[in-house]
Amino acid sequence: MKAIILVGGEGTRLRPLTCNVPKPMVPVVNRPFLEHTFSYLKHHNIDEVILAMGYLPHRIKEHFGDGKDYGIKLTYEVEDSPMGTGGAVKRLHHLLDDTFVVMNGDVYTDLDITEMAAMHKEKQSVCSIAMVPVEDPTKYGVIETSPANKIRKFTEKPGWDSVTSNNINAGTYIMEPKVLEQIPYGTFHMFEQGLFPKLLLGGESLYGFPLKGYWIDMGTVESYLKLHGDMLKGQAALNMQSKSKDGIWSDETTRIHRTAKIQGPVVIGAGCTIGPRARITGPVVIGAGCNIGEDTALEDCVLWRQTSVGNQSTLNHCVIGNNAKIGNNVWVKSGSVVADDAVIGDGNKLANGIALWPGHNLESDSVTFVRR
Ligand code: GDD
Ligand code: MG
Repeated sequence: MKAIILVGGEGTRLRPLTCNVPKPMVPVVNRPFLEHTFSYLKHHNIDEVILAMGYLPHRIKEHFGDGKDYGIKLTYEVEDSPMGTGGAVKRLHHLLDDTFVVMNGDVYTDLDITEMAAMHKEKQSVCSIAMVPVEDPTKYGVIETSPANKIRKFTEKPGWDSVTSNNINAGTYIMEPKVLEQIPYGTFHMFEQGLFPKLLLGGESLYGFPLKGYWIDMGTVESYLKLHGDMLKGQAALNMQSKSKDGIWSDETTRIHRTAKIQGPVVIGAGCTIGPRARITGPVVIGAGCNIGEDTALEDCVLWRQTSVGNQSTLNHCVIGNNAKIGNNVWVKSGSVVADDAVIGDGNKLANGIALWPGHNLESDSVTFVRR
C-alpha cells in the first residue's frame, strides 16, 4: 500500500515552536517527528510515501531528500493554498490505483496497520478509520459504531451535549480510491466534515478499527511533552540506536561534571556540557550542543539544539527551542515555551504557560499564552 501523510497544517497549537519548522520536523527525542513515522511505516512494510505539504515544505525536503537514507521512496506534493485534509488527497487521485493509507502527520502510535488492512479487506470496507477511546472526545472526530464496528456516525469536534461515544478518529485511514470520486476536484475539502458524513449518508460501508496500543496527537505543547515522557518511561516505543546506562543516554562527546546529579530517564545529545552540581531529573531530553550551567535544575523538559542555560536557573515542564539563551537565576515555569534564538536575561521568570517568540528578549518583547 502507498501511504499519504498529511503534513500541510501550520501547527498553530504548537506555536511558537512551529514558527521556523513545520510540525513534522519538530524534534521528538532529538529526531524530526517524521523520522519516527517513517520507521513505523517501514515496520509495516509500507515504503512508498507521498507527503501532502503546504506549510514550510522546503524544511521537510531539505532534510529527507528522496527518502533513500530512510529506506522510503518519497514523493512531495505541495499545495499553493491549504486544500483541507480531503482536498489534499483528492489532488493525488491520479497516483492512487489501489487501496491506500492516509495518516495525519502528527500522530504517534503503534496501531497495527497490518491487522487493520486485513479487517478492511475482510469487511469489504470502502474506508476504515482507526479509533481510540479518550476522556475528552470534544477535541477530536467522534465515531459511533455498531457492535460489529460498522460506523454509524462521524461528528468532528462536537460540543459535550452531542457527544455520543468516547471513541475518536485516531487519524489513520485505509481507503479505496473510488471514494475520492465524491470529492470535487480543486476545492478545499475536509474528510472530517465532508467525505466521511457524506459516505455514511450514502449508505457506504465504513468500519472503525479499535486501536489497542499507544496513541497520541502531539500537536499541542502539553501532548508534545507527554509524548517525550511516555517514550522515555517506556510507555511508547523509543527506538534509540544506543543503549542507556542507568536510564541515561549520552555519548563520549558530552561532558558531564562529576558533581552533576542526573536521574533518568534522560537523553543528552552529542557535544553538550553539564556543569557542576547541575540536577537533571527525567524525563528530560537535551539536544546536541547545549550547555547547562552550575547548580541549574532541569525537570520534565525538552531542550532542542545549541541552547545555553546559565547558573542557578530552574526549568520545569517546559520546551526550549534551538539556540536560545537563558541566563543565571532564571525560572522557566510549567507549560512554558521559549522559541528559537529567544533570550531570557539574568534573574527573570517566565510564568506558567507563557510563550516567548523566536528571537525575542523577555525584557523588551511581549509574550503570549501557550495555546492548549
Ligand atoms: N496537506 C494538508 N493540507 N494537510 C493538512 C491540511 C491541509 O489543508 N490541514 C490539516 N492538515 C494536516 C495537518 O498537518 C495534520 O497532520 C493533520 O492534517 C490533521 O490536522 P490537525 O490540525 O492536527 O487536526 P486535529 O488534530 O485538530 O484533528 C484531526 O486529528 C484528530 C486526531 O488527532 C481530525 O482528523 C480529528 O477527527 C482527529 O480525531
Ligand atoms: Mg492534530
